[in-house]
Amino acid sequence: MDSIRGYIEKNKERFLEELFGLIRIPSVSADKRNREEMYSAAEYLKENIISSGADKAEVVKTSGWPVVFGEKLIDSKLPTILVYGHYDVQPPDPHEEWKSLPFEPEIREEKIYARGADDDKGQLFMQLKAFEYMVAENKLPCNVKFIIEGEEEIGSAALKKFCLRNGQLLSADVILVSDTTMLSLDTPSLTIGLRGLAYFEITVTGPNRDLHSGLYGGAVNNPCNVLADIISGMKDDKGKITIPGFYDSVKEVDKGERELLNKVPLDEDTLITNIGIPEFYGEEGYTTIERLGIRPSLDVNGIWGGFMEEGAKTILPANASAKISMRLVPDQDTEKIEKIFKAHLENISPPGVSIRIKTLHGGNAYVAPWESKEIQAAISSIEKTFGKKPLPIRGGGSIPVIAAFDEVLGIKAVLLGFGLETDAIHSPNENFPLQSFYKGIETIPWFYHFYSESYNL
Ligand code: BES
Ligand code: MN
Ligand code: MN
Repeated sequence: MDSIRGYIEKNKERFLEELFGLIRIPSVSADKRNREEMYSAAEYLKENIISSGADKAEVVKTSGWPVVFGEKLIDSKLPTILVYGHYDVQPPDPHEEWKSLPFEPEIREEKIYARGADDDKGQLFMQLKAFEYMVAENKLPCNVKFIIEGEEEIGSAALKKFCLRNGQLLSADVILVSDTTMLSLDTPSLTIGLRGLAYFEITVTGPNRDLHSGLYGGAVNNPCNVLADIISGMKDDKGKITIPGFYDSVKEVDKGERELLNKVPLDEDTLITNIGIPEFYGEEGYTTIERLGIRPSLDVNGIWGGFMEEGAKTILPANASAKISMRLVPDQDTEKIEKIFKAHLENISPPGVSIRIKTLHGGNAYVAPWESKEIQAAISSIEKTFGKKPLPIRGGGSIPVIAAFDEVLGIKAVLLGFGLETDAIHSPNENFPLQSFYKGIETIPWFYHFYSESYNL
């Protein structure tokens, strides 16, 4: 695998051109009108998987946005790596905050600026180009399959169904994913855990129309007030979530692992300055690293209702809504959380209003087994190219299909991500340093190497 550096040097301009072609397709999965964009991004990837050296690749229709499947099978006696990624991106708004157009990639200060530059087009492309190198130079040590979806940012419903029906097609020994972050290029880290997610929208409905707040104020229960009460009642003053049963299946992490996780040199001062807050805040008794990685959370993502225009209008609103997401940890189960959340709201049933709950999407948490051959291979590959052993981290984000791969297909995942916190994924001016991009391409073939080698030991 030592020739990978030379291969990158020779082809780096072309790698960027190819990636830019994908970035220019605005494949925002949240907007149902984007059919053409979603299909053309899928087609683009199919073509690139073929030109990178796969034997076959196809765009497969699903119940939602299409998935791309590809493979190169060289020997049934060798292990198979299933590479997962997503071609969908988050909406780019607010537009006015971008310094260059979100879907016209621009390189400034050695970073690619665009929506999807990191999450996940840039990171996925590292996988494709690392694969291309191994095929081109006859160094592929195992079989490879690709499964790339267009619904990660909206909950992966179609891919979860696809897994249930296509176990054989997706059969593999390990799943390889580049869609997470590292602490920094100087302090490499390996994500060994992802949080799960349970996401709801609740609507509180009162009177059948907005009412005059003088004629009715004081005698009618106000949906906005009720919603505020419901929300504030879901946490106590120690930052604990008070929904009965919420912590029932939360696995306490033992002291040893907590100490290990807290070794991560998280520069909290820089972080709070970056995001413009005076201090971190969260559940009592846990550090920031623990609050983000091993503890569940509950947050309002958006809240609306009543009169929201300029000026004053004296009304009691007919309804009020909020989007509420919970990040889950092992062994919480999204469906159980849904049940207890609904039961809780039914239980409090405030007088004079009705409450409707819509489940948006979810997925369970995932923790990779540290001693496994795939994690050990990932550690070796990072050590090889970064010159340091990675620190284990449990990321706060979610990739809902990773737990499903384990539950449905029985395949564990390696989260070999190269993003940085400063890449601003989901935000305006998302970016991906060229150095991260090339370092990722350099590291991935080593993972293939060490992983395949572990089968011969
Ligand atoms: N790639 C991210 C998840 C991520 C980023 C994990 C950084 C760890 C470190 C993924 O695309 C994402 O944004 N996931 C969503 C979940 C989805 C259901 C909306 C998330 O975490 O909010
Ligand atoms: Mn992603
Ligand atoms: Mn994302």
